Amino acid sequence: MKDLTSRELRSLYLEFFKSKGHKVIPSASLIPENDPTVLFTTAGMHPLVPYLLGEKHPQGTRLTDVQKCVRTGDIDEVGDASHCTFFEMLGNWSLGDYFKEEAISWSFEFLTDEKWLGIPKDKLYFTCFEGDENAPKDTESHDIWRRCGVEEDHIFYLSKKHNWWGPAGITGPCGPDTEMFIDTGKPKCSENCDPSCSCGKYLEIWNDVFMQYNKTEDGTFVPLAHKNVDTGMGLDRTISILQGKESVYDTDVFSSILDKISELSGKHYKDDEDTMKAFRIVADHVRCSTFILGDEKGVTPSNVDQGYVLRRLLRRAIRFSMKLGIAAGGLPKIAETVIEQYKDVYPELLDNREKILTEISLEEERFSKTINQGMKEFDKLVKYLKTNEIPGKSAFRLYDTFGFPLEFTMELAKENGFTVDEQGYAEAFRKHQEKSSEGATQRFKGGLADNSVATARLHTATHLLNAGLRNVLKDDSIQQKGSNITAERLRFDFNFPRPLTDEEKQKVEDFVNEAIKADVPVVCTEMTLEEAKEQNAIGVFGSKYGELVKVYNIEGWSKEICGGPHASRTGELGRFKIVKEQSSSAGVRRIRGILEEV
Ligand code: ALA
Repeated sequence: MKDLTSRELRSLYLEFFKSKGHKVIPSASLIPENDPTVLFTTAGMHPLVPYLLGEKHPQGTRLTDVQKCVRTGDIDEVGDASHCTFFEMLGNWSLGDYFKEEAISWSFEFLTDEKWLGIPKDKLYFTCFEGDENAPKDTESHDIWRRCGVEEDHIFYLSKKHNWWGPAGITGPCGPDTEMFIDTGKPKCSENCDPSCSCGKYLEIWNDVFMQYNKTEDGTFVPLAHKNVDTGMGLDRTISILQGKESVYDTDVFSSILDKISELSGKHYKDDEDTMKAFRIVADHVRCSTFILGDEKGVTPSNVDQGYVLRRLLRRAIRFSMKLGIAAGGLPKIAETVIEQYKDVYPELLDNREKILTEISLEEERFSKTINQGMKEFDKLVKYLKTNEIPGKSAFRLYDTFGFPLEFTMELAKENGFTVDEQGYAEAFRKHQEKSSEGATQRFKGGLADNSVATARLHTATHLLNAGLRNVLKDDSIQQKGSNITAERLRFDFNFPRPLTDEEKQKVEDFVNEAIKADVPVVCTEMTLEEAKEQNAIGVFGSKYGELVKVYNIEGWSKEICGGPHASRTGELGRFKIVKEQSSSAGVRRIRGILEEV
């Protein structure tokens, strides 16, 4: 296995695909064009969607690039071995050109050939789609891996949850994928441990997506005339494997940045767990902020959309740099090191150097004026609190007066054993600012729009849960008071004055599972808000919906306004389970639910 630097891996990847007839295209902006559903570019395929849908690309049908990406959905995980808010994705595309045979054999060649990465074949594992009622088992990919020389016991068939990509909306190009994993050498966590397990034994490094279907309105999968390939390899992750490091932060990508933090703080990266975590958070957040500020599309800290994310990243970095004892003025110095590290690959960082450093300094100045006072206010607040929930109004005051983003207060609260009344915060926010940034806050909290199949299914399950609660509790005044969905679980808040009994919970689960069993299509229709109300569609009729709204109808079960994404039939959902029912704030209950595979 070659011990490459990140710089070498980037150029080797592009060189390899150039040798296979690909044109190298530059990384697109981090701020997506014409796509209001996401704040940032989250994968290499994102800027290429029009071409995957059939538009002609000026550079032809074989493309390759290194795309800068931002994903903040897992911001709370930053500090562990692998999570970062900014990352680079190496990718190659076939736009109606080659398909599985070439894509897979080239992936294998690049990974294993001595001329390229030279990873021993026995360290690699592969997964393929096991098939379902919509698309057959992907034996083609399996057979191609076998012809490349992969042993049978290194290939696993997994379900749609793992081996399927897209579509972002209810319709669009999608298909099975085949994923490549490396055995990190850790012991298996159990007899059944395989690449679908998240214990850390198998690390996914590359994904080849075969976009061979178009998912249509009625939920059928129609084969595409032009089949595409979309692949993505995580640069930092792959580098950590090639360099034999246990974390992405221990690679050459971060070494100069961590050294700078060490110089400014007088501490060592691995002094202890807390110090290591703070080093990683500061390094990650300053790197991400530098890229957002340095982007061609220019974003500055603010209280809405991308600017809000940037502000949150910077303020979080400031708090952790203070913990490390870094004096004010430290963050721009760290950003300078980031620019140095990346300037030859992303010259826009150098072009925007002044802006990056000035904006970070300004944000540092703005926040350092109030952070100490705000922290005192926070300490006072929790000292005199009689419950362990911080009232929404107080959280709003911390935001409004001291500049603490809600998530920032929530984090402080958690560290001190408290929670925050998020609903109350939202109400206080709404009252103070009619034209508020709530949309952005919500979007950020939910992570970036996530188009995975698992998330779409949980969105649909949430509609059924909402309908089930009204049905079982015989209360039409029940309304969604908040919701947060990830690929793993749903969280749903609703107004109700008391805890649910076990019997009621069971009945709600049964309601949802019966709707799943009935395998009803999920039909989306666009209409005006007025029409939606006339049709008794439920939903929060807030200003965040523009003139036209999307109504998702599950005939006989649920009709609700929503932005999606959704499953195309309820039958795809699996089995619904309520894992927790608890109080969220006065008069508001919170349910956490999951979908189990059946
Ligand atoms: N679009 C695919 C991914 O992000 C390659 O994994």
